[in-house]
Amino acid sequence: MDEVLVLSCSPRRGGNADFAAELVLEAFGGSGRIMRPADGGIGPCRSCGRCEAVPGTCSIAGDGADAVFEAMFSVPLTVFVSPVYFYHLPAQAKALVDRMQRWWGVPEAERPGRGRLLAPLLFGARRKGVRLFEGSLLTLKYAAAAAGMALCPASLAYGLEGPSDLRRDEAAREALRQAAAAWRAAAIPERG
Ligand SMILES: Cc1cc2nc3c(=O)[nH]c(=O)nc-3n(C[C@H](O)[C@H](O)[C@H](O)COP(=O)(O)O)c2cc1C
Repeated sequence: MDEVLVLSCSPRRGGNADFAAELVLEAFGGSGRIMRPADGGIGPCRSCGRCEAVPGTCSIAGDGADAVFEAMFSVPLTVFVSPVYFYHLPAQAKALVDRMQRWWGVPEAERPGRGRLLAPLLFGARRKGVRLFEGSLLTLKYAAAAAGMALCPASLAYGLEGPSDLRRDEAAREALRQAAAAWRAAAIPERG
């Protein structure tokens, strides 16, 4: 069984999120896969009421969200690797999270992610700001809850703006590797 799903949540190709996603996968010995929600054709929630009427279902069937959820619930750990956009997740990643609303009405013991972990790896261009990650972290906390997953401690980095900034920042790369090692130990105790 694969160990990790890494969601590289920037629409920019080849930037910091894509590079960080590769580093995370490396930390898992390549056991897993990277998906890019921005390329996945994920439609936004339309608040149609279907999942309220029939918990666990969604009226938007067969689009990119289903492929992500299938991958997510076949591994012990999913890592959201995301830049901050206006103090939040980029729109495509937020669309994916909104589609997790379908499990809100499902009893906790029956949610599909129970026994699995969700880890946030977030960064922004700003060099400081205690509230920079607040919006994204709250969203991911409740995304994990909706799916029945447990939330891991986040890895956060400041000052990453240009697409190669993480490649140039050895301290940020090392912090990322350490976070990934801790997540692996939590998700797969026998291998971590
Ligand atoms: C639309 C947009 C909004 C952004 N908003 C913020 C922000 O609120 N705070 C911040 O620190 N950086 C912000 N940034 C900068 C990105 O977080 C930063 O450039 C990041 O490294 C991009 O990641 P990537 O290389 O994976 O695309 C924004 C960038 C874009 C394109």
